[in-house]
Amino acid sequence: MKILLIGNGGREHAIAWTLSQSKHQPQLYFAQGNPGMQELGQRLDIEPTDIQGLLIFAEREAIDLTIVGPELPLSLGIVDRFQEKGLAIFGPTQAGAQLESSKAFAKALMAKAGIPTAGYRFCQTQAEALQALQDFTAPYVIKEDGLAAGKGVTIAQTMAEAEQAIANAFQKQMPVVIEEFMQGQELSILAFCDGQTILPCVAAQDYKKVGENNTGPNTGGMGAYAPVPLATPELIATVQQTVLEPALKALQAEGINYQGILYAGLMITPNWEAKVVEFNARFGDPETQVVLPLLEDDLVDLMLATVQGELHRYAATGIRFKPNQYAMTVVLTAEGYPGHYPTGTPIFFPQYLSNDVHIFHAGTKVLPDQSKVTAGGRVLNVTGVAENLTEARRKTYEIAGQIRFDGKYYRRDIAAEPAMALSR
Ligand code: AMP
Ligand code: GLY
Repeated sequence: MKILLIGNGGREHAIAWTLSQSKHQPQLYFAQGNPGMQELGQRLDIEPTDIQGLLIFAEREAIDLTIVGPELPLSLGIVDRFQEKGLAIFGPTQAGAQLESSKAFAKALMAKAGIPTAGYRFCQTQAEALQALQDFTAPYVIKEDGLAAGKGVTIAQTMAEAEQAIANAFQKQMPVVIEEFMQGQELSILAFCDGQTILPCVAAQDYKKVGENNTGPNTGGMGAYAPVPLATPELIATVQQTVLEPALKALQAEGINYQGILYAGLMITPNWEAKVVEFNARFGDPETQVVLPLLEDDLVDLMLATVQGELHRYAATGIRFKPNQYAMTVVLTAEGYPGHYPTGTPIFFPQYLSNDVHIFHAGTKVLPDQSKVTAGGRVLNVTGVAENLTEARRKTYEIAGQIRFDGKYYRRDIAAEPAMALSR
């Protein structure tokens, strides 16, 4: 079996590693992948957004399944183009990907489906946005409407800050969504969806702020862990009934056959309601780095079932995860991230790695002499798996400490205080 995986980050490295564990022993091709993935398959010099190039490769090599990691190719319609040619591809169509690419589309769908989310106003002009702001109270949530990798959101404590965020957005000619602020604990649920059946993975929690104790600016993600004690079976059932099923029905009503991952970013409010912060049309990063290492079912089987509309075969048991196993991941960043940071810094890896610790590459480059250097803000993800979070943390941080590169930074508090079930 031949599989083509699109994307270059830590998420794709984690997907590739999980695919390599499949009983199908697939032959893997990466467009373009990263240096950490080179021992798992063949890296291709085709950009993730070069849809024509990817299509030609997949047809010529008779690729059995293509998997789309990042959102951009999805929102450009890669899935539509592959499906026109009868090629199996994991991910939603361009219409489905609007769940992520357009907050206006996502909000309208949630309204139609009755899915709990923050009240909002969609504003096309700066004047309209400044006017709408008057109807909200602090803290103000200002979102740029477009793909922003989690960085297009400002939580403003004052009206002046909110006005500044609005001005910044319109300077970039981005329309904005102003939202009611939601209080609670955040939870990420990645669900496999084949257009008819939708099934959640173990819940994960993501750390978006660069600084310890959730301080400083937002990033693409500084760490994650799973499962989250807060996400009891009862809460997951609530999410299934009030978010996932209604979203699927609303997509069907739009004539969208949604296949792939539906990522629900949730706020669990103090009175146990699951409100949607955002939907994404793909695996989360870095959530994937903790969810997939816990997967017990075969990922290739699961993905094939998804693209073939056969997920109902998993409905009785749900997607299975390793019982009594926990995973955490910490992101090692270059000095200065999420602002300016240097690249090309040599990286030194530990000699020995046990098989329950993974180093997933995110922003690295390999030099002709095979040495590795930094090539991005988020450089490496270290993931540890163990029978409890304390042990997973110990293993992860031991390796995170052993990896060396100048300016290495990481949060020390990932999974230190896992979100607990709230009393009702
Ligand atoms: P998003 O890109 O929509 O996921 O937003 C990024 C982050 O901003 C979220 O993970 C939350 O931490 C925060 N956020 C976004 N919207 C809200 C909201 N309405 N209320 C509270 N926090 C929010
Ligand atoms: N971890 C947030 C995201 O993938 O968008």
